[in-house]
Amino acid sequence: MSEKSPLRVAVTGAAGQIAYSLLYQISSGYVFGDDQPLILHLLDITPMMGVLNGVVMEIQDCALPLVRDVVATDDPAVAFKDIDAAFLVGAMPRKEGMERKDLLAANVRIFKVQGQALDTHAKKSVKVLVVGNPANTNALICSHFAPSIPKENFSAMTRLDQNRAKAQLAEKAKCDSVDVKKMTIWGNHSSTQFPDMSQATIKGQAASGIINDEAWMRDVFVPTVQKRGAAVIAARKLSSAMSAAKAASDHMKNWFSCTPADDWVSMGVFSDGSYDTPAGVMFSFPVTIQNGKWSIVQGLNLSDFAKEKLALTGKELCEERDEAMVVCLA
Ligand code: NAD
Ligand code: LMR
Repeated sequence: MSEKSPLRVAVTGAAGQIAYSLLYQISSGYVFGDDQPLILHLLDITPMMGVLNGVVMEIQDCALPLVRDVVATDDPAVAFKDIDAAFLVGAMPRKEGMERKDLLAANVRIFKVQGQALDTHAKKSVKVLVVGNPANTNALICSHFAPSIPKENFSAMTRLDQNRAKAQLAEKAKCDSVDVKKMTIWGNHSSTQFPDMSQATIKGQAASGIINDEAWMRDVFVPTVQKRGAAVIAARKLSSAMSAAKAASDHMKNWFSCTPADDWVSMGVFSDGSYDTPAGVMFSFPVTIQNGKWSIVQGLNLSDFAKEKLALTGKELCEERDEAMVVCLA
């Protein structure tokens, strides 16, 4: 059989923490398949070019069979030229005591500039995952400034929250996290997100029936997942990186292929108003994926508790959108 032509994959913030784990996962074949050759496009800012050069040396030294070329640059026009996939990681991380939305003023302009560069230089079929915080609103801004690329090609990462939630449920139910399916994160990748275990299954049975502890769900599970990023920062004095890279890899892996028949994944995508959420913001929904295209899972029953949580996180996303537009239009 003839070899596949290489995919061009951009990673921004390529000299940073998350990228250091992510680049190996992409290069190893975990994300796009072990028969898919790759050309890596690595972007960072000018003062980081020396460090980025060291990362390129290490990629070379891994002698990975799928990596056909590496382009390392501080120019978004070069980084996004003809790319098929973009992991937009490069942005400032928060420090202890901050909320992710406190990064908005510092980070959102990056995503305006990168949206404009994607619009001009990337393939129109490019799939874009925004990891840099505040991820949902940065993804919205990036898409806004890339009007020639379909809106459904932009997404924000809430897969880390989904993975965290699965791990919490698995620990409580004394099973493996792969046994947990249909775990939904609704809304913003922030402390207003709603990790919703009401549809989750464990070995095919309703997780709520197996755990059977409403107080734990409300008072332990939900706040633990909502605040896990802050807990990692408090412990590590740095924001999550290994787990963020794994989540970014999981997100793109599913998006470039599919979701299994008995599962779904959570992704920040353009809201079409489903479940009375505010249309037009990047809201995390449960989605299924077929042939690289996502669809929001419809028809789920939401409790009054859940409806309240969705309203709160939707309100925060509208506020962030309005603030971001002011910053970007100034
Ligand atoms: P880091 O500081 O280690 O690395 C960030 C890198 O981005 C640096 O090398 C920096 O020079 C680069 N950078 C800054 N501006 C850039 C630009 N305009 N173009 C290209 N590169 C640029 O940070 P990190 O730990 O890798 O985190 C990166 C971002 O990801 C942060 O905003 C963090 O909050 C976010 N994050 C999101 C999630 C999520 O679940 N969505 C999880 C973890 C971290
Ligand atoms: C996370 O969830 O770990 C990241 O978004 C980093 C952070 O600021 O919490």
